Amino acid sequence: MLQHRTPGDAHRRPANLAPLIEAATQVDQRAAFRADVLAGLGKAQKAVPAKYFYDARGSALFEEICTLAEYYPTRTETAMLERLAPEIARHVGAGATLIEYGSGASRKIRALLEALPAPAAYMPIDISLGHLQASARRLALDYPGLPIVPVVGDYTAPLNLPVPPGARLVIFFPGSTIGNLAPADAAALLAQAAGRVGRGGSMLVGVDLKKDPAILHRAYTDRRGVTADFNLNLLDRINRELDGDFRRAQFRHRAFYDPVRGRIEMHLVSLIGQAVSVEGQRFDFRVGETIHTENSYKYSLDEFRAMAGRAGFVPEAAWSDPDCLFAIHLLRAGTMST
Ligand code: AVI
Repeated sequence: MLQHRTPGDAHRRPANLAPLIEAATQVDQRAAFRADVLAGLGKAQKAVPAKYFYDARGSALFEEICTLAEYYPTRTETAMLERLAPEIARHVGAGATLIEYGSGASRKIRALLEALPAPAAYMPIDISLGHLQASARRLALDYPGLPIVPVVGDYTAPLNLPVPPGARLVIFFPGSTIGNLAPADAAALLAQAAGRVGRGGSMLVGVDLKKDPAILHRAYTDRRGVTADFNLNLLDRINRELDGDFRRAQFRHRAFYDPVRGRIEMHLVSLIGQAVSVEGQRFDFRVGETIHTENSYKYSLDEFRAMAGRAGFVPEAAWSDPDCLFAIHLLRAGTMST
């Protein structure tokens, strides 16, 4: 269900910026966090979903991670988009409506907007209202001829997006965020995206490549400890929002590459035997026991193409950087291959 937010400051809204649309998810964010944390800490392998990293501090720490020397994905993908934008534009053509999943600061879309011939509209979707409002306004001022329709919501949910009939849709999903989903969930997201853009629509998606595990290990255990801080911040968030009593100093960040599953795993390791209380429930930790906080899957070009094919996309083009660190896939929605 979609609702227009009353534009209290409409007089200052640039003419090409549509009123913000709230895609009601009907989900109480705090209730979901509480349920997921209590269920996750009750498992044999304790786990908390990675989406809960991103409170205000977690989002700021992630921005900092993206600037680290060891963390290659952001700068590699950004450089690729700048270099490849004219070629991508030739594939995408004129008059496309761009929908960005998890648009954040809407930085990466700028390279495409510079190159695409007469895009019809840009629709950034983000769960964070603050991010969305500020970045949509900046973009509207910088691209006055481009209609911008910001949507607050969860792009994985079934949203009834306000796209004009006959619009040619292109979903832009950069950052290798798809790698944070389990492969079955990533495939489901791709299938949903193929349905959303419809036959002939496209998806442009950034995907981290499989590579030397030493490079991966460095990217998730940076020397300054920003990634450790990002991981440990989850405990602070649980303490603050769910009346927890985690002692941050009694946990340590650990990240490693599992070559069989093709993923980085992040954990928080208990340094001592201890009991922790969250929302009045007690959770016991043995020395060395961990909370599994994130998976970051890496895909070869062919692995990702195969998954996209099973989800109803025809792989149209794929590019990687000269060091084969990162890939950008252009997929065209067609008929299901299976
Ligand atoms: C957001 N996501 C693609 C990042 C990644 O690389 O999986 C999150 C991250 N975790 C630790 N560093 C960065």
